[in-house]
Amino acid sequence: MSSSVFAVVTAAGSGSRLGYDMPKALVQLAGVPLVRRAVDGIRVAGVDGVVVTAPPTHLGKFEQIFAGEPDVVVVPGGSIRQDSVYNGLLEIPRLAKRIGKELDERTPVLIHDAARCLTPKRAIRDVIEALEGGLKAVIPAVRVTDTQKVVEPVGASSKIERVIGQVDRAQLRGVQTPQGFHWETAMRAHEAGRELLANGVELTDDAGLVEALGEDVHVTPGSALSMKITTKLDLVVATEILARPDQYQSLLDE
Ligand code: CTP
Ligand code: MG
Repeated sequence: MSSSVFAVVTAAGSGSRLGYDMPKALVQLAGVPLVRRAVDGIRVAGVDGVVVTAPPTHLGKFEQIFAGEPDVVVVPGGSIRQDSVYNGLLEIPRLAKRIGKELDERTPVLIHDAARCLTPKRAIRDVIEALEGGLKAVIPAVRVTDTQKVVEPVGASSKIERVIGQVDRAQLRGVQTPQGFHWETAMRAHEAGRELLANGVELTDDAGLVEALGEDVHVTPGSALSMKITTKLDLVVATEILARPDQYQSLLDE
């Protein structure tokens, strides 16, 4: 059993698809900003220190939210998520020192999206426990419900596409966060990721950077509640779930 667990909560995005005149992580869900919910959720699951990546334009607002909480530090994010995560990771040694928690090569580090602010404790604990059990890279994921097809464009301006193949749905997983890594793996993958970016290769998740190194990534059960709040519809669904917890208890408990 590891003595400490750290997390980077990425909250530096603008939320262009949600379309509010403020960063998505500051948008309130039932009166509480998404970033506040995400940080509290990950804390309850046993995380000792959290680095929040905030939009550089709104650093003060984020610092205000977490004022007086020594286990949370706010740093400026970058222009893409991968840069934000890297900035967050660089802050972890300082945070560990400040709060007097051990950080070694195998210390679990979670990377979590503020936009997945309803992730249940169970899904987070599963990732932490798999890391403590010795796995170096662990991601929560869910089965996909729609049949999946591979398509290609028919013409440059057409909205019609042509099906060129299908994939076996049983083998597919929709990947969520928190993605967890041993500290050494997280840093090595992200250092390599900077090289990839410099060569024009952009991957959409942190585990992809570990896969690019040719190393194993393992999967734990995700949760429907870990949906990423992306559009107004997602906010409507999340608001409904929180408004009637009795009706959705099975989802909230899982
Ligand atoms: N994120 C970040 N730094 C960036 C971009 C995104 O820390 N430069 C964070 C977001 O704040 C979010 C998570 O990464 O918590 C996942 O990104 P996404 O859901 O795409 O959020 P946004 O980029 O803010 O939304 P959009 O793509 O609609 O603009
Ligand atoms: Mg985005």
